[in-house]
Amino acid sequence: MSHKAWGGRFSQPTDKRVEAFTESISFDARLADVDITGSQAHARMLADVGLLTATERDQIVSTLEEIRQVIHRGEMPWRTELEDIHMHIESELIRRLGDTGRKLHTGRSRNDQVSTDIKLYVRDAIDHLDQLLETVQRAFVSRGERDLDVVLPAYTHLQRAQPVCATHYWLCYAEKFQRDRDRLADCRKRVNVSPLGAAALAGTSLPINRHKTAQYLGFDGVAANSLDISSDRDYLVEFTSALGLIAAHLSTWAEEWILWCTTEFGILHLPDAFTTGSSIMPQKKNPDVLELTRGKSARVIGAVQQLFVLIKGLPLAYNRDLQEDKLAMFTAYDTVAACLDLAAPVVEQAVLKRDVINARLEDGFLDATTLMEYLIRKGVPMRSGHEIVGKLVADCEAAKKRLADLSLAEFQAANPLIENDVYESLGARNVVRMLQSYGSGGLGPVKEQLAAWTKRLG
Ligand code: ARG
Repeated sequence: MSHKAWGGRFSQPTDKRVEAFTESISFDARLADVDITGSQAHARMLADVGLLTATERDQIVSTLEEIRQVIHRGEMPWRTELEDIHMHIESELIRRLGDTGRKLHTGRSRNDQVSTDIKLYVRDAIDHLDQLLETVQRAFVSRGERDLDVVLPAYTHLQRAQPVCATHYWLCYAEKFQRDRDRLADCRKRVNVSPLGAAALAGTSLPINRHKTAQYLGFDGVAANSLDISSDRDYLVEFTSALGLIAAHLSTWAEEWILWCTTEFGILHLPDAFTTGSSIMPQKKNPDVLELTRGKSARVIGAVQQLFVLIKGLPLAYNRDLQEDKLAMFTAYDTVAACLDLAAPVVEQAVLKRDVINARLEDGFLDATTLMEYLIRKGVPMRSGHEIVGKLVADCEAAKKRLADLSLAEFQAANPLIENDVYESLGARNVVRMLQSYGSGGLGPVKEQLAAWTKRLG
């Protein structure tokens, strides 16, 4: 005879190997808080509709609160034979309250219960991530203030392209993380719809009030189809996908700074507290935090894949496969939260090596495009201007000169429309003064964006 909560129709005890194989308490114990909160709301609703007395409700709510404290103190023994967090809490309630405890699961199933728990958990996770993202944005924006006088080469194909304000780089990440925040906020709308009361898959013949539980739990609405509810994990695919993009943004930032810290680039210094050494090479100081930020993105992107594969082709409605959803979600969330947590101080404390940047700023013809635009302003068609400047660059390269080193006579030999004011368009710092289009890396537009960001973050 089985001793399980569901053991009524079983005549044999469960094989120990099956218990070990099917348990989820080893990873869903962290849903304890939201599970208790969900059960308390459910009990209140059951009393509202007359399925519990007021006394039973109060006993259940306060005993669940005691169980919450036991769990917080780490005094709840987790037992594989109790499968998951839901059964642990319910059986502890029954142990303490007897028949009153045996009424809690009225009009509910673990299928809607687990989805409710996950949604409550993810809702908090989204709010936490939003704060972490804002902190990282603030770090970039405050760097933006500090580095307004720095001009950096910007790259395409990892080849020097045009100069921009360093602040333009920092605000670039503020933009990316803003889209991440917006995406999470959008995902939150679909997370915040209540599954509770869908019961196993078909709803219930009991007079429950799903709108009440939704209201008690702060959900914005109630999901309308019980079959859809018991099978829906779209919100986890959305959530982890949003996390995947955060991880991708972080890994781009990490990769760029890893390059900048190399002897070859040498334009960024990471503080000792955020680097690690080598066990054999005494001179080494490695950007391991950045490397792991880049590397850990694999887990997050993997979690998205894991969830897609998990739900693909699954028949309606609940299947035990779905128990695996939490592993992917927790991994993605923990990883991104840890990376964001470290990103903020690294962003704040890294030092740009202004001397190295300035010594090399005029390398690589960063002003060629602006010279072409000078010709356009003088009436030269764009394609002709491109060709003229291309030839001048080739000449300068052969003569180991910069464009600004050419004499006015040499410029006029290339095109007679060129006048002495050409020199105002040459040199990286001049270029940054001239870039003026909305959203460009020039000093004027960047200052405007910086002011907008400062205002936005308050
Ligand atoms: N531990 C299970 C999960 O995470 C809870 C739902 C179990 N439902 C069931 N019908 N066996 O999915």
